[in-house]
Amino acid sequence: MTNPNRLADHYQRALRADEILAQIDAHYPDGPTLHQLAPLDQLHIGGVAASTRLLERLNPATHGKVLDIGAGLGGLMRQGAMLGFQMTGLDITHGFSTLNKALSTRAMQPGTPPLAWVTGNASALPFADSSFDALLFQHSLMNMPDAARVLAESRRVLRPGGQLVMHEVVSGPNVAQLHYPVPWAASSEHSHLLNLAELTRLLETGGFRLEHVEDWSDMALAWRQRQRQKEQVKRSVVLSPQWVFGERFITMGKNLVNNLADGAIKVVEIQACC
Ligand SMILES: C[S@@+](CC[C@H](N)C(=O)[O-])C[C@H]1O[C@@H](n2cnc3c(N)ncnc32)[C@H](O)[C@@H]1O
Repeated sequence: MTNPNRLADHYQRALRADEILAQIDAHYPDGPTLHQLAPLDQLHIGGVAASTRLLERLNPATHGKVLDIGAGLGGLMRQGAMLGFQMTGLDITHGFSTLNKALSTRAMQPGTPPLAWVTGNASALPFADSSFDALLFQHSLMNMPDAARVLAESRRVLRPGGQLVMHEVVSGPNVAQLHYPVPWAASSEHSHLLNLAELTRLLETGGFRLEHVEDWSDMALAWRQRQRQKEQVKRSVVLSPQWVFGERFITMGKNLVNNLADGAIKVVEIQACC
């Protein structure tokens, strides 16, 4: 059983929040761009491009009020806000919600819809029924031990006709070969990967109608291999995932490539409506 405090500890133990903010203020005094923040705040495989594709599945005119579940440091939220979505980010890791807010204060331009940040658990969403037009999961469901309950809560807070869009890691055929640590888990304690068939079945039994399912694994592997090459070249960078995960990220990054290449994990995009 996942202990929420231990999960937050996994994400917060090496987080250099004050240094990150000082570094941003020193290097980007006029405020960082989405791409400048991306090595830090897009904590998923595929970076800004993957978030762009995810957001393209929604229309701010019809599904403007969006909840990002497991928002992390908020890269997707800020991208969404710049497209005109009203974004709320929920995360169980309080240090992430706090830093997400501080990054947004520096990065958001006047005129973009306001953002909201909530520290909470996706298993008991602190929102009224039917309060959102759309929900996003980006590399977060895989941390959640009771996916059925999370999807029931998701269904409850989505209005009728609402959309759910996911960019998630699922288990592959060779999941027995999965190597830890990976960014979402130091060991199997916090990794709750479903396979794609289990996830789509849970969505359907949870009251969602599948509209789109796509395997992004090849693209994910190519992207992670390019990132890994960059990470191996010794050069000074303003921001990097190591400011979030510490030196562990070197092994996490290598394991991600191997886990994808070995078929231990897959990356999928799913859209469903209710
Ligand atoms: C791998 S990070 C991804 C963050 C972000 N979605 C991104 O792609 O950059 C997973 C996030 O999910 C959050 N999370 C995990 N379990 C959660 C839960 N039960 N409720 C809310 N947030 C959770 C973690 O704290 C973490 O910020």
